[in-house]
Amino acid sequence: MANFIVLLGPPGAGKGTQAEILSENLNLVHISTGDIFRENLRNETELGLLAKGYMAKGELVPDDVTNEMVRDRISREDTREGGALLDGYPRTPDQAQALAAMLEDIDGKVLCVPYIAVPASVLVERLSGRWTCPVCSTPYHPVSKPPKVAGICDHDGAALVQREDDKPATVKNRIDVYMENTAPLIDFYQKQNILVEVDGTQDIDQVSADLLRAIKARM
Ligand code: AP5
Repeated sequence: MANFIVLLGPPGAGKGTQAEILSENLNLVHISTGDIFRENLRNETELGLLAKGYMAKGELVPDDVTNEMVRDRISREDTREGGALLDGYPRTPDQAQALAAMLEDIDGKVLCVPYIAVPASVLVERLSGRWTCPVCSTPYHPVSKPPKVAGICDHDGAALVQREDDKPATVKNRIDVYMENTAPLIDFYQKQNILVEVDGTQDIDQVSADLLRAIKARM
C-alpha cells in the first residue's frame, strides 16, 4: 500500500522548507500544489492563467480544478507505487474528501499528517523575508536559511526572486483564508488519529528532526 504524508500548516510555517528535507530523507516524491500552479503560470498554460487571479489575491484556486490536477499527478506510476509527500494539499474539507477517494482508487492511504504550528505574528516576518528559487522552488531567508552566495540558489545557480503573493496585504489575506478554510482540517485529521503537531518556531534542523521522528514512528 502506498503511503502519503500530508504536511499541514499556515503560509510560511515551513512546509516547503521541510518538504525538501523530508523527501530526501524518506525518499518520497514531493508534490506541492503551489509549485505546480506557479510552474503552469510561468509556462502560461490554461491552468496557470486560471490560477493566476486567485493566487495574486491570496485566494484558493477552486476545489474542482485543484482536485483534478492532483488526481492526475497522483495517478502516475511513481506515486501510485511509492506514495508521496503532499505540501499545500488538501487545504479545504472538500479537498480532503477528494484525496481520500483518490487514495482509495489507487490502494493508498494517508499515513500521517504532520501539522507545523507557527503563530501568525511569526509568519508575516518569515514571508516578507523569503526569497525563492524560480527553477527548483527552494525557499531561503537571509536570517534562518541564507543561500551560500547572496541572491543565488545553492542547487542550480538561479537568481532568487520574491513571490508576488508575499506582499504584506496578500500575506494577511492568505493567513485569513487559511484560518477559514484549512485550519478545520486539523480537527478532521485529529479525529482520524493521524495528526502530529510539531513546534514550527524552532530552528529548521530541530523541526526536521521532530518531523522525521514522528513520521518514522508511524512507518
Ligand atoms: P503555496 O505555494 O502552497 O503557499 P502556502 O501554503 O501559502 O505556503 P508557503 O509556500 O507560502 O509557505 P511554506 O509553509 O511552504 O513556508 P516556507 O518553507 O517557504 O500556495 C500558494 C497559492 O497557490 C495559494 O495561495 C493558492 O492560491 C494556490 N494553491 C496552492 N495549493 C492550493 C490548494 N490545495 N487549493 C487551492 N489553491 C491552492 O518558509 C517560509 C519562510 O520561512 C522561508 O523564507 C524559509 O526560509 C523560512 N523558514 C522556514 N522554516 C523556518 C524556521 N523553522 N525558522 C525560521 N525561518 C524558517
